[in-house]
Amino acid sequence: MKTALNKNIKRPNHYDVLKIITIYAIFSCLWIYMSDTALGLLITDRATIIHISVYKGILFVIITSILLYQLVRRYMLESGQLKEVIKKNDLLFNLLYEGMMDAYCSVDMTGKILQYNEVFRNMLGYEAEELFFKTYLDITPVKWHSMEIKIIEEQVLARGYSEIYEKEYCKKNGTIFPVELRTQLIRDDQGNPYVMWAIVRDITERKLAQGRLARKRLELEELNQSLEKRVEQAILELRQRDQVLYQQNRLAAMGEMIHNIAHQWRQPLNMLGLTIQQLPFLYDRDHFSKEFLDKTVGDAMVLIQHMSKTIDDFRNFFKPDKEKEEFKVSQIISNTIQLVKASFDSDQIEIVMDCRDDPVVHGYPNEYTQVILNILSNAKDALMTRKNDSPQVCITVSAEQGRSVVTIRDNAGGIPDEILPKVFDPHFSTKGPQGTGIGLFMAKNIIERNMNGRLSVRNNEVGAEFRIEV
Ligand SMILES: Nc1ncnc2c1ncn2[C@@H]1O[C@H](COP(=O)(O)OP(=O)(O)OP(=O)(O)O)[C@@H](O)[C@H]1O
Ligand SMILES: [Mg+2]
Repeated sequence: MKTALNKNIKRPNHYDVLKIITIYAIFSCLWIYMSDTALGLLITDRATIIHISVYKGILFVIITSILLYQLVRRYMLESGQLKEVIKKNDLLFNLLYEGMMDAYCSVDMTGKILQYNEVFRNMLGYEAEELFFKTYLDITPVKWHSMEIKIIEEQVLARGYSEIYEKEYCKKNGTIFPVELRTQLIRDDQGNPYVMWAIVRDITERKLAQGRLARKRLELEELNQSLEKRVEQAILELRQRDQVLYQQNRLAAMGEMIHNIAHQWRQPLNMLGLTIQQLPFLYDRDHFSKEFLDKTVGDAMVLIQHMSKTIDDFRNFFKPDKEKEEFKVSQIISNTIQLVKASFDSDQIEIVMDCRDDPVVHGYPNEYTQVILNILSNAKDALMTRKNDSPQVCITVSAEQGRSVVTIRDNAGGIPDEILPKVFDPHFSTKGPQGTGIGLFMAKNIIERNMNGRLSVRNNEVGAEFRIEV
């Protein structure tokens, strides 16, 4: 470690020596005074006193010499050991700072550089002693000066250390690079600010990585946005395709409806024909009264109104639903049964309806009708292909946990297990050119997407069982 500091070596403790010498002086004076007084009292012969005093003096010199020798020896030994410890500490500090992976630097309170390690010097690209002639501001680009001075005033001087902060250094060759550091303060014995030191870390790599990360994040965001747009586009296209399928299914249903109307009209048309046919016959027989004419016209009008209502019912079904509305499930099911009843009757298929509850649903009634029609039409197809002695479709209406539940069961033998998972797939049909495979796909879409419900199917002992929960 390069250092410009006068090492603050701890001197040996003179105070202890002074203390011993003082005690020694007091003790010597007391010894001389008291021994002489004692001699004066015990011995009266002056020559003997002088004689003994000489020996006493020699003894005193020998004892104090031994004591002094011991003291000096101990002092020299201790000061030698102290120097050794200081040397070792110095070495240890050097090893510590030089062995550090981070750069270390200390400055005096004017900002002049006092100490630094090799990592610090290499980081800045200076030669051996060059940095001793600089201040920390000399190696910091000007734009950071005011910020760093503020940190020193508000944090380092105020509480002894700063938060970790980022700034830049300028290398000897002029290259500017980012660093991260925390500055700490050392005070002298009087508590005055003495030295500031810092562990400095070159964060060029980290900044580059952050830059790369930010760029990647931006790219990702852009990708996300374009992906979102593509997904939106795809969803829009899918919706349009659904719309086309929906229309196709409605057209197919319309074909079936015409078939149904024909069935519904057959009987009233026959009746109307008979009513009209009997007119000339009764006229020839003079039974043709005013009352009879009125009654016949009345009967004919009832039939015509019935036929006209049938057309209205069918026309209503083809009106698209605009807004969601509340409707009674059992009401919609009865209406739907009315639409297909004639055609089911003509094929001797019985429709049984069992209303256990009268749930109300918030949704699209015509779309719901379309779902029921699709399921009924499939049941009819299945019953027509697999002959059954008493073909039947049972519809139950109930409510479970605040939701309406409609089950539609037939007794046509069920859906083969291998195709059961596929019946709701678009374009899946086992009916050859007669089937488009859209019916159940549309039905599931209407119930699950448009009305947040659930449409499922399973086989029971006698046939297929569809369950609509809304
Ligand atoms: N009640 C049922 N009994 C037996 N199989 C059924 C029944 N309902 C549906 N399926 C089977 O599910 C298939 C798919 O029905 P889906 O209504 O989607 O199409 P499709 O009836 O074949 O054609 P379309 O689009 O004209 O309705 C049918 O082809 C049939 O094999
Ligand atoms: Mg179908």
